[in-house]
Amino acid sequence: MTIHIGAQKGDIAETVLMPGDPYRAKWAAENFLHEAKLVNETRGMLGYTGSWNGHRVTIQGSGMGMPSLSIYANELIRDFGARTLIRIGSCGGMQPQVKLRDVILAMTATTVGSPSQSIFKELNFAPAADWSLLHAAVQAAQSRSIGTHVGGIYSSDTFYDERADLNEQMIRHGILGVEMEAAELYTLAARYKCRALAVLTVSDHLGTGEALPADQRERSFGDMVEIALEAAFA
Ligand code: HPA
Repeated sequence: MTIHIGAQKGDIAETVLMPGDPYRAKWAAENFLHEAKLVNETRGMLGYTGSWNGHRVTIQGSGMGMPSLSIYANELIRDFGARTLIRIGSCGGMQPQVKLRDVILAMTATTVGSPSQSIFKELNFAPAADWSLLHAAVQAAQSRSIGTHVGGIYSSDTFYDERADLNEQMIRHGILGVEMEAAELYTLAARYKCRALAVLTVSDHLGTGEALPADQRERSFGDMVEIALEAAFA
C-alpha cells in the first residue's frame, strides 16, 4: 500500500494503462480484461488488474493534469514495479488534418512546466515516447481503419487557458494536439528506465470548435484500449 494506491504488493501488473478518468478505467477493465479485480479505490481513483491474451495488465486512473498523474505514476513505478505505462486519453486537435475520432500517437510531449521542471533548471528536457511501444502502436493503429497521426503533442497544465499565444505557437510548430499528462509520464519513464507512450483520441478540435458527443466517445475509447494493449505486448 502507498499513500494514494491501496493495492497490495503484487496486485499491480508490470504493464499499466492509465486513463485520466477513473470510470474509464472501470469501463476498460470490464470490457477488455479477463477476470478484472478492483485493486485500488483510494480517493475514488479506481484501478483494476486482470489479463488480456494471457498477459497481466493493470488499468489505473491517473486523474487530470500532470501533478495528479505524477503521484500515480511515481507510486506505480517505484513501489509497485510497473515497467510499461501507457496513457489512454483524449486530446484537443490542433492541426487541420487531425479530425475528431482520429488517434494521435505522441512521439514527443512539449510542456511549459511539468512537476519535474524544477530538477532540470535551465535545461529544456525533451520528453519522448518509448520507440518500441510507438512503433508497435503505429502498426496496431494502421491495421484498423482509424485516422492515425504520429508526432508531437502539447501537455498543457491549464484547460481554461488564458494564454492563447501558447496554443498559437504550438500550432505554428506542427504540434498535433493538446492534453494535460503525457510530458510528465514520459519524463518519469525516462528517469526510472521504463517504457511509456500516450495513445490519444481526438475528442475536440481547437480550430473548428467541434466536440465528440458523449455517446461516441466510448467507441473511440475502445479502439485506443486495443491499440495500447497490442502495443504493450507486441
Ligand atoms: N485541452 C487540454 N486537454 C484536453 C483538451 C483540450 O482542449 N481536450 C481534451 N483534453
